[in-house]
Amino acid sequence: MVALAERTQAKLTLQTLEIAQDTTTIRSLDWDRDRFDIEFELQNGTTYNSFLIRGEKTALVDTSHEKFRSLYLDRLLRLINPAELDYLVISHTEPDHSGLVREVLQLAPQVTVVGSKVAIQFLDDLVHQPFKRLLVKNGDRLDLGNGHELEFVSAPNLHWPDTILTYDHKTQILYTCDVFGMHYCDDNLYDEELELLEADYKLYYDCLMGPNARSVLAALKRMKDLPEIDMIATGHGPLLRYNIPDLVGRYRDWSQAQAKAETTVALFYILAIAAAIVLTVLLDAGWRWFRYKQRIQSRLTNQDRGLMALVTCLTAVVIVVPALPFLFLRFQGWVIGEAPSLYQYLAAQPQSTLVASLDLEASNLPAFTQRSTLVGREFALPHHPVYYHQFQQRLIDLIRAQYSLDSSVLSQFIEQYDINFFLIGRSAFTPAYLNQDWLIHSSFQDLVRQVAQQLEQGSQPVLLQTIPKCQVAASEKLILLDAVCVQQF
Ligand SMILES: [Fe+2]
Ligand SMILES: [Fe+2]
Repeated sequence: MVALAERTQAKLTLQTLEIAQDTTTIRSLDWDRDRFDIEFELQNGTTYNSFLIRGEKTALVDTSHEKFRSLYLDRLLRLINPAELDYLVISHTEPDHSGLVREVLQLAPQVTVVGSKVAIQFLDDLVHQPFKRLLVKNGDRLDLGNGHELEFVSAPNLHWPDTILTYDHKTQILYTCDVFGMHYCDDNLYDEELELLEADYKLYYDCLMGPNARSVLAALKRMKDLPEIDMIATGHGPLLRYNIPDLVGRYRDWSQAQAKAETTVALFYILAIAAAIVLTVLLDAGWRWFRYKQRIQSRLTNQDRGLMALVTCLTAVVIVVPALPFLFLRFQGWVIGEAPSLYQYLAAQPQSTLVASLDLEASNLPAFTQRSTLVGREFALPHHPVYYHQFQQRLIDLIRAQYSLDSSVLSQFIEQYDINFFLIGRSAFTPAYLNQDWLIHSSFQDLVRQVAQQLEQGSQPVLLQTIPKCQVAASEKLILLDAVCVQQF
């Protein structure tokens, strides 16, 4: 076994190891990465794992993050003559694994890219250049020669719709990219020390795979058709070799529990509706019984009176309890709107109204005003590339516009997104305001820090200057600005 480890910068290193016959991993170790997407806080950095399989033909499985461009490509060129690379298997097109596909295609234009139909579509948008392609479905095989026959397992929604797993029949390695991965960076190649990894493995599952528990169960079912799995070569963290049944079993258990919980929630609503129907039928029966007693002029017995008192009490409980905010709102995690006058103002605007805001209150506007917001903390969920990338772009554009010193940037933003209002926190132009976790730990944290620094130095963004003239409504903590007025400022 050959091990090469070199530290070229304080935070980024590369590890190259032979993991099986004709099979080499190139692991890009990102020691200090502290955030993934908007909401995934990392404790132990992460790695981006790529694999080279050399049969009679050669295949590269996934690449790396673009921050490893020179490190990764130098190492790849030392391992292989790019003219000899036949296939590039794309398990998933998120940039942490496909960030260097364009560069690999430039070095090896003859290569055939192998991926699901969706992955190839996404890749077309990513690399903007023609390339040879092979679309694969579940069960398709690709023979590299020397026994290295690759079999593909479709795994849509784990966690993107493009995902495939790749099984090498010779080495019995299953390449899974994000699936069974974890954000954990250290020099250990394998999962010997399970207790060190458990928390990150679970957090990763909860953030990326849990929301698609049914898809996880479907993929696990497809994996059952494969022969024995000797190693799971993940795209993040250590490769799994010592705890495969245990760790795969955890995915199954968590996903079953999750899927069951989803069913329970659905049942909860069905039960509520069913209970209302039963209550109505019982009340109707009670009323008919009472009328019947009256008609036959029968006297009410004590038992009848007790029954009526009980029904009256229960009816009172059903009607009164939901009306008690103390019982119904505070203990059930409901959000209480704190700016009713603002909600009223916005609710009176046309249906197509769009509000731009970095404030946490933006998350409440769709519910309280039935009007749309451009972004909102609650909607920052990175579970689909098309949705997330658009969301991220909106957020970056909004930060640039809101804190711009150039009125044309602000004006262009309003025009581009057709914004009607800006909802501004009263502290929005202080550096502390930008310390919101979803901004300061995001992939665009450099921009956020830069803006905070400018504010610290006393810069006066154009939007701040428009407040006296363009304010149309306000609450204790928020100010609503008319975008037409802002644009004309
Ligand atoms: Fe991913
Ligand atoms: Fe990933």
